[in-house]
Amino acid sequence: MNRRWVRYSFLGILIVFAGMQTVRPERSNPPVNPELTLAAQYEVPDDVQRVLERACADCHSHRTRWPWYSQVAPASWLLADHVKDGRRHFNIDDFNEEMSLKDVCQEIRTGSMPIKGYLLLHPDAKLTGAEIQTVCAWTQGARAK
Ligand code: HEC
Repeated sequence: MNRRWVRYSFLGILIVFAGMQTVRPERSNPPVNPELTLAAQYEVPDDVQRVLERACADCHSHRTRWPWYSQVAPASWLLADHVKDGRRHFNIDDFNEEMSLKDVCQEIRTGSMPIKGYLLLHPDAKLTGAEIQTVCAWTQGARAK
């Protein structure tokens, strides 16, 4: 491989990367309406709320902590998508009838949530067995207010 080839490919990659940065997904944190939160509709014990805030809120609330790499494509695209999808499926700041607390227990019990890639970057979001028990015990007994 000659040097010129290496230089041109490097330049090419750089140009593509720069071009990707012009496609900027929306990273919004919509305002929280206190009447629509999960806690406004269900009795949520503090220990359950703490788990949801620590391990789920970045994708399932309107209070996403957007990290610096969420500004950099292609990570920005992936993260914005996760948050958009996550909020649609389960949202502790905008909870509705179509969202299911039973699924919450199932997702954490099977280890599907939090998403694996998220856990790599946020190891503190890993749930202990006891936390899974606590959340599942709550979802099984939870009654709408
Ligand atoms: C990194 C973002 C992220 C985190 C953190 C995260 N989720 Fe999710 N969650 C998603 C996305 C994206 C979806 C929708 C796609 C899917 O089902 O994989 C989803 C879907 C769900 C669903 C709906 C599943 C279904 O079948 O409809 C539930 C319930 C859920 N998550 C619960 C949780 C709980 C509870 C936590 C915290 C313990 C959590 N998630 C943490 C991104 C996340």
